[in-house]
Amino acid sequence: MKMGFYFYIVCCFLIFFSKASTTIDTISRSESLTDGKTLVSNGGSFALGFFSPDTSNSNNRYLGIWYHNDPNQTVVWVANRINPINGSTGVLKIESSGKIVLQVQNTTAVWSTNSTVSVEDPVLQLLDSGNLVLRDGNDINPENHLWQSFDYPSDTMLPGMKIGVDLRTSFDRRLSAWKNWDDPSPGDLTYGVELEGSPEMVLMKGLEKYYLTGLWIGSGFSGVRDVRSNPIFDYDFVWNKTEIYFTFSLKSKSLMSRVVLNQTESVRKRYTWNPESQTWELFSMRPSDYCDRYGLCGPNGNCDYNKLPVCQCLTGFRPKWPKRWNTSEYSGGCIHIKPLNCQTGDEFITIRRVKSPAITNPWVHKTMNLKECKAECSRNCSCMAYSNLDVTGGDGSGCAMWFGDLVDIKQFQSDSDGMDLYIRVSASETELKKKAKVKLAIILAPVIAALLGLLLVVCYIRGTRRKLEDEVEDKNLEDKENKDENEDMELAVFEFDTIIQATDTFSFRNKLGEGGFGPVYKGTLANGQEIAVKRLSKSSGQGLNEFKNEVKLIAKLQHRNLVRLLGCCIHGEERMLVYEYMPNGSLDSFIFDQTRREELTWLKSDVFSFGIVLLEVISGRKNRGFYHANQSGNLIEHIWRLWTEGKPSDAAYEFLAETGDVPELLRSIHISLLCVQQHPEERPSMSSVVLMLGSHNELPSPKQPGFLFYNKPFEAYPSPDNNESSSRNEISLSTFEAR
Ligand SMILES: *[C@@H]1O[C@H](CO)[C@@H](O)[C@H](O)[C@H]1NC(C)=O
Ligand SMILES: *[C@@H]1O[C@H](CO)[C@@H](O)[C@H](O)[C@H]1NC(C)=O
Ligand SMILES: *[C@@H]1O[C@H](CO)[C@@H](O)[C@H](O)[C@H]1NC(C)=O
Ligand SMILES: *[C@@H]1O[C@H](CO)[C@@H](O)[C@H](O)[C@H]1NC(C)=O
Ligand SMILES: *[C@@H]1O[C@H](CO)[C@@H](O)[C@H](O)[C@H]1NC(C)=O
Ligand SMILES: *[C@@H]1O[C@H](CO)[C@@H](O)[C@H](O)[C@H]1NC(C)=O
Ligand SMILES: *[C@@H]1O[C@H](CO)[C@@H](O)[C@H](O)[C@H]1NC(C)=O
Ligand SMILES: *[C@@H]1O[C@H](CO)[C@@H](O)[C@H](O)[C@H]1NC(C)=O
Repeated sequence: MKMGFYFYIVCCFLIFFSKASTTIDTISRSESLTDGKTLVSNGGSFALGFFSPDTSNSNNRYLGIWYHNDPNQTVVWVANRINPINGSTGVLKIESSGKIVLQVQNTTAVWSTNSTVSVEDPVLQLLDSGNLVLRDGNDINPENHLWQSFDYPSDTMLPGMKIGVDLRTSFDRRLSAWKNWDDPSPGDLTYGVELEGSPEMVLMKGLEKYYLTGLWIGSGFSGVRDVRSNPIFDYDFVWNKTEIYFTFSLKSKSLMSRVVLNQTESVRKRYTWNPESQTWELFSMRPSDYCDRYGLCGPNGNCDYNKLPVCQCLTGFRPKWPKRWNTSEYSGGCIHIKPLNCQTGDEFITIRRVKSPAITNPWVHKTMNLKECKAECSRNCSCMAYSNLDVTGGDGSGCAMWFGDLVDIKQFQSDSDGMDLYIRVSASETELKKKAKVKLAIILAPVIAALLGLLLVVCYIRGTRRKLEDEVEDKNLEDKENKDENEDMELAVFEFDTIIQATDTFSFRNKLGEGGFGPVYKGTLANGQEIAVKRLSKSSGQGLNEFKNEVKLIAKLQHRNLVRLLGCCIHGEERMLVYEYMPNGSLDSFIFDQTRREELTWLKSDVFSFGIVLLEVISGRKNRGFYHANQSGNLIEHIWRLWTEGKPSDAAYEFLAETGDVPELLRSIHISLLCVQQHPEERPSMSSVVLMLGSHNELPSPKQPGFLFYNKPFEAYPSPDNNESSSRNEISLSTFEAR
C-alpha cells in the first residue's frame, strides 16, 4: 500500500518533469525557433509557431500564436501578417540590438520589432495569457516587458489585453480583421477607441464609423445590453488622463473567451469555450441588430426596434423629408417641429432608455452633477442635449453635452439598458407634458363623461342605420398630440350667458337625456352652430384649474370614438362640457321614445368597447394596428400578457406611467380587463364600472379576455356572442369617426 503510494508520487513527478522538459516557453539570444518547432506557454494554454491558414493549397507560412488545447488551433495573433514566408524556411530569433526578427534563413527580415533597447540577456517568452513578451533576463521583475505582442493585436482580443489609446504617446491599440479566412493581412474592419475623444468604442469600416458602443456610463456602454451578470468574464473601460481603453478578464482560470473581428460578416463576435462539447460558442455579436447600424435614422432620429418604421423622430422633431421618410429613406433625419428660441427659454425633455448619441465635439466633465450639467447646457445655445456620464450609484454623476445634431440614438425597452438623455426643445413642446400631470382619476372621470356622448352617437347611428365607413388611421396618440400642437388647438371657454341663451335656460324642451354625470341639453349658439351641453353634477368638488386642465386634456386626447369637445363653461360651482351636436338629429326621438329608449341601456357589449377604449387611452396605442416586435397579437393580448406576468403598469403610455398614480393606473387596467371578458355575463355593468372607478373596493380577478390569439389584428370589435342581434355587430366602434 505504502509502496504503491510512493510509486504514484514518483510517476506524477516524472510525468510533470518530462512535460516540463519537452515544452519550452522561452528563447534566448543564442537560440532560434524554426518552422516545425513551437513554444508552449507554461500552463499549456497557448502555442507559438509557424502555420498556414490554408494548409492544403498554399506555401504561405506565418508566425502566430494559437490556443494549444483547441484541436482547430484557433489563431489569435500573427506576426508577419502582410509578409508570408514561402515554405518552411522561416526562423525567429533575437538580435543583439534587442530586436525580434523573423527572417528566411540568412536573408532579410520579413518582420521585426522596432525595439532598440539593447540588453545583455534578452529573453523571448510566451506567457500563459497568450502574450509574447521580450524581457531582460537579468531584470528581477518579470513584469517589465521591453516589447509585448498584446500591444500589436491582430484580429483577436484576449483577456488582459487593452484595446485603446495611450494618451501620453498617442499609441493606439486596435483590432483589425483578417482580409479573409486564408489571408491574415489587415482588412478594413477595425475596432478601437473612438479617437475623436468620447469615452466609447467604435467599429470602423475604413474611415467610416460602422458601429458605436455608446458612451461608457460606469456600468457599461449605453448602447450595449448589460452583460455584467454573465458567469464568464468581467469587463472594464479605463478612461483617465493617461489612458483610455477597454479590457476584460476571466472570472476563472479554467474559462476561455475571445473577441474576434470578421471582415466578411463585418462583425465583432465574442466566443466562449464550452469545455463539455470542446467547441467555441458564440456569446455576443456587434452590431447585434438593425438599429445598431451607425446613424441609421439620420440626425435627431431614434431607432426603435419595436416600432414600425424603426426610425422615429425624437420628441419635438419631425422628418426633414417626410416623403422619403415614408419610403424608409431615413438619412435626412429629423428637424425641430418648432424652432428653438434660446433667448426666450428653451426647455429640456427626457428621452429614456436610449443609447447615447455620437459625440463629435465632445464636452465631458467627470465631476459635475446633473443640475450643473443642465445649467451649463442651458447657457450655451448650441448645446442640444446633456446627460449624466456615470449612471451608477443613485443620482449618477458627471456631465456629457452634445453640440449639433444628435446622431445614432437607439431605443431600449428595459430599464437596465441605455440611459436618460435630456434634449433641448422649444419651450412650447413641453406644455402638453405639463398638462398631463393630472391624476389619472381626474382624467378618467371626463373620459366617462365623454363616453356618454358616444352613447348618444351610437343611438343615432342605430336609428338611421347609416352605413359605417371603415376608416383607417394609423397615427397613434402621440402623433396626434404632435399634430394638435402643430395646429395649436385652442379650447373655448363659453360664457354662462351664452349657454343660457343657447339652451333657453336649460329648458325641458332642450333636454336630450340624463346620464350618471348629469343632464345633457341641446343648444344653438348665436352663429347657428348646434351644441350639446353636459351639465356635470356639482358633487365632483374639483378646483377650477383642475377642471380646466382636464378639459384641455380630453380635447387633446380627442379619441375618435368620442364626440368632439368644443369647450367648457364654468359658472360658480357649475361645470359644463360643450360638445358638437350631431346634426340631422333623431337623437331626441330616441331619448323620448319609451320603447326605443330601452336600447340605450349599455348595450354589456358596449362595456367591452369601453374596456378597449380605456385600454387604448391608458396605453396610448390603438388596438388595431397594434404592433410589438416580439409578439404577435393585439393590444388586449399584449396587456393581458403583461398582467399575467405581473407587470401591468408597463402597458401605460409613458407619461401616464411617469406622472400618474400607480395604484389608480393598475386599478384602471384591472377594470379594463374586466370589461373585455369573453362572456358578457362576466363583464360588469356600466354603472358598476363607474362605481369601480370611483371606489377602492376589491375587484374580482379578470379571467383571460375574449379575442385572444386572433391570427390577425382586429378589424372591428365584434360582439362575442354570435346569437346577439346583428345590429350590434354593425357598430364597429374602433373604426367609426364620431363627427
Ligand atoms: C515558393 O517557392 C517555390 C519553391 O520553393 C516556388 O516554386 C514558388 O514559385 C515560390 N512562390 C512564391 C510566391 O514565391
Ligand atoms: C547561414 O549563414 C550561416 C553563417 O552566417 C551559415 O553557417 C549557414 O550555412 C547559412 N545557412 C544557409 C541556409 O545559407
Ligand atoms: C515598427 O514601426 C513601424 C513604423 O512605425 C510600424 O509600421 C510597424 O508596425 C512597427 N512594427 C512592429 C512590429 O511594431
Ligand atoms: C468570417 O465568417 C465567415 C462566415 O461565418 C467564415 O466563413 C469565415 O471563416 C470567417 N472569417 C474569419 C477570418 O474567421
Ligand atoms: C489610469 O488608469 C490606469 C489603470 O487603472 C492606471 O494604471 C493609471 O495610473 C491611471 N492614470 C491616472 C493618471 O490616473
Ligand atoms: C473545428 O472546425 C470544425 C470545422 O469547421 C468545426 O465543426 C468544429 O466545431 C471546430 N472545433 C472547434 C473546437 O472550434
Ligand atoms: C406618409 O405616410 C403616411 C401614412 O402612410 C401618410 O399619411 C402621409 O401622408 C405620408 N406622407 C407623405 C409626405 O407622403
Ligand atoms: C458653446 O460650446 C461650444 C462647444 O464647446 C463652444 O465652441 C462655444 O464657444 C460655446 N458658446 C458659448 C456662447 O459659450
